[in-house]
Amino acid sequence: MNQINVPQGWSLRLAAAADAKAIARVHVDSWRETYAGLVPDDYLQSLSYEKRAASWRRMLADEPAPWRCYVVQDAAGGIKGFVNIGAPREEDFCRGEYSYKGEIYAIYLMKECQGQGLGRALMNGARHGLKSQGMDNMYLWVLQGNATRAFYRHMGGVEFAEKTLEIGGRSLAEIAIGWENI
Ligand SMILES: CC(C)(COP(=O)(O)OP(=O)(O)OC[C@H]1O[C@@H](n2cnc3c(N)ncnc32)[C@H](O)[C@@H]1OP(=O)(O)O)[C@@H](O)C(=O)NCCC(=O)NCCS
Repeated sequence: MNQINVPQGWSLRLAAAADAKAIARVHVDSWRETYAGLVPDDYLQSLSYEKRAASWRRMLADEPAPWRCYVVQDAAGGIKGFVNIGAPREEDFCRGEYSYKGEIYAIYLMKECQGQGLGRALMNGARHGLKSQGMDNMYLWVLQGNATRAFYRHMGGVEFAEKTLEIGGRSLAEIAIGWENI
C-alpha cells in the first residue's frame, strides 16, 4: 500500500473484521448525507447502524477473494471512508460487447473529510486491489443525480450504460461508468 499517496495524517489500509461497526456508521451516515433529496427520506431514516454492521461483519468474515475492502482512517484511528471491490455482479458486462473484470461496489467518505484527496486515495486503493488480483479494468454504478458522477469523469471514467432501480418505492436511474487499463 506504500505506493498509494494518502493525505498527511491519514492512512489507507485493508479493512479487518473488527472494523464492521465503524464502516457501517460511515455507510449509513454517508448515504444520508449523499442521497438527501434523491432517495426518499423515510428510506434514509429507516437505515439501521446495527443491521448494516451485521452485514459488514458477515462480508468481512466470509466474502472470498477477489472481494476486498479498504478504509481510510485519521490519525486517531477513526474510520471516515471505505471502498469495496470484487468481481463484476453484472454478467452482461463480462461478455460480448464488454469484458469488465472488476467492480467497485461502494465508495463512501464522510462529507467533513471530502475535498482533501481521500477520494482519490480510495479510488487508487480500489485500482491497486483489483490490479494486484489480475483485474485490469473496472466499472461501477452511480445514481444519475449524484454529483459524484463528475468526480468519476475527472478520475478518467467513461459512462457506458444505464438501468433503473427502485429505492424506497422511488424509481431511480443509475449510470455505469467504466475504466480501462487501471
Ligand atoms: C466521491 C468521493 C469519494 C470523492 O472524494 P473526495 O475526497 O471529495 O475527492 P478528492 O478530494 O480526492 O478529489 C480528487 C479530485 O477529484 C475532484 N473532484 C472531487 N469531487 C468532484 C466532483 N463532485 N466533481 C468533479 N470533480 C471532483 C477534485 O477537485 C480533485 O481534483 P484534483 O486532484 O485533480 O485537483 C466523495 O465525495 C464521497 O464520498 N461522496 C459521497 C458518497 C458518494 O457519492 N459515493 C459514490 C456512490 S456511487
